[in-house]
Amino acid sequence: MDLLIPDKVHDESRQGEAFVLEPVGKHNGRKLYIESYGCAMNFSDSEIVASILAEKGFETTSDFNNADVIFINTCSIRENAEVRVRNRLKEFAGAKFRNPGMVIGVLGCMAERLKAKFLEEEKLVDVVVGPDAYRDLPNLIEQVDSGQKAVNVLLSREETYADISPVRLNSNGINAFVSIMRGCDNMCSFCVVPFTRGRERSRDAYSVVAECKDLFDKGYREVTLLGQNVDSYKWSPTQQPSPEGSVLETKADQKVSPAGGDLEGAVNFANLLEMVALVSPELRVRFSTSHPKDITDEVLYTIAKYDNICNYIHLPVQSGNSRILDIMNRTYDREWYMNRIDAIRRIIPNCAISTDIITGFCTETNEEHNDSVTMMDYVKYDFAYMFKYSERPGTLAAKRYEDDIPEEVKQRRLSQIVAKQQEYSFYRMQARIGKIEKVLIEGFSKKSDKDYCGRSDQNAMVIFPVSEAYKPGQYVNVVVERTTSATLIGRIVD
Ligand code: 5AD
Ligand code: SF4
Repeated sequence: MDLLIPDKVHDESRQGEAFVLEPVGKHNGRKLYIESYGCAMNFSDSEIVASILAEKGFETTSDFNNADVIFINTCSIRENAEVRVRNRLKEFAGAKFRNPGMVIGVLGCMAERLKAKFLEEEKLVDVVVGPDAYRDLPNLIEQVDSGQKAVNVLLSREETYADISPVRLNSNGINAFVSIMRGCDNMCSFCVVPFTRGRERSRDAYSVVAECKDLFDKGYREVTLLGQNVDSYKWSPTQQPSPEGSVLETKADQKVSPAGGDLEGAVNFANLLEMVALVSPELRVRFSTSHPKDITDEVLYTIAKYDNICNYIHLPVQSGNSRILDIMNRTYDREWYMNRIDAIRRIIPNCAISTDIITGFCTETNEEHNDSVTMMDYVKYDFAYMFKYSERPGTLAAKRYEDDIPEEVKQRRLSQIVAKQQEYSFYRMQARIGKIEKVLIEGFSKKSDKDYCGRSDQNAMVIFPVSEAYKPGQYVNVVVERTTSATLIGRIVD
């Protein structure tokens, strides 16, 4: 079993969550049920899908038995993610039997990986749509209505859905995901994403800033900029036309960014972060995921410069051993990673750091595994997502190396690092006792409506008694009095 310490970017508690939104305008009398698995990018994509169908008059429902169209937005990252989706599909069979006109669609990474084969393997499924083909959904549904099965798994080099303003699904009205790029060019040997999500492309910087500004104007107070590798964000104003209305000012033929800066040259991730941070000092900016080979000191200095860019970096290490990193094709080694950690500690002393670690990658010895353990000792991560290696068909590792580490060895190594991470999470939490955290209130705590919950700048969940004086969406200072290994507990101070 994968063990996840919860966080918003790959939130275990949200897996399989169904999305519902307020009806917008004209109805076509049909109801859409959509549920999502996998990473935040997938949840964000479901919002794009819902926007496209809302435009066509679909309403959403939280009960798949009432739906005319069921979409399941899938993940392929590990085998168990796919097993989960297959099991879920079985649960839709009864509903389809009762309502034979129902359309069942598989979206996302699994759709892209399996393509038309999905239709053969799962007779229940009518439509298979990859992550770059969502604009085609209304046509594909029509095709199914006319009695055919439908597939569109074309990947694109350009599609960023920049002009589609996503409806916010199941939103608390306070934090939102904003996708800044799609795809991935890294070719880590274990990873299926380059095959399921295609080539890397960056979204128009103007449209990103315009979306963040719009969110802020609607009362949102936190955006998380999403990409598989945000540090390789690169966009140039000459590269693509910016969408109507998103350029705020034009001097002669020179474009000026919404933040007021000159956008003559290419925009890198540090520039984009700054542009979003300048939307308002009251808007918190987070981002995920960073890549150790690409995260620059310029990005770190930008984080340090703006109070509203959160001091939290998710920097997946995958392994602490240089030989394993080499065959994982991560293109950095142990020393390089440690150097990046040192740079973070130097430039942003108060920065929380989280990571991803894979145990039992092909040919990993006990000594090499131990290098991952000592890396944890070196960094003392605030959070970690830890996984057993799961071979994915078609990846470089599946082609080149044997998946030769026995299951029980993978499991033993995983249990060891999970135990270690629990110690370090607790250690990091304990270090906050007595400190004052600036918390953005997100709502009532899950356990009691006498408590509020929200996140600290460093992304720790904070619980504290409700005060009438403050509402969700506002910032409060909370003094930390005690902790668990995942939560800070305290009270509001002025
Ligand atoms: N097996 C196990 N974990 C994987 N990840 C990606 N591919 C695999 C795989 N084949 C993990 C990596 C990545 C995270 C999103 O999922 O740690 O950073
Ligand atoms: Fe997201 Fe990766 Fe799963 Fe695709 S495979 S949905 S990119 S976690």
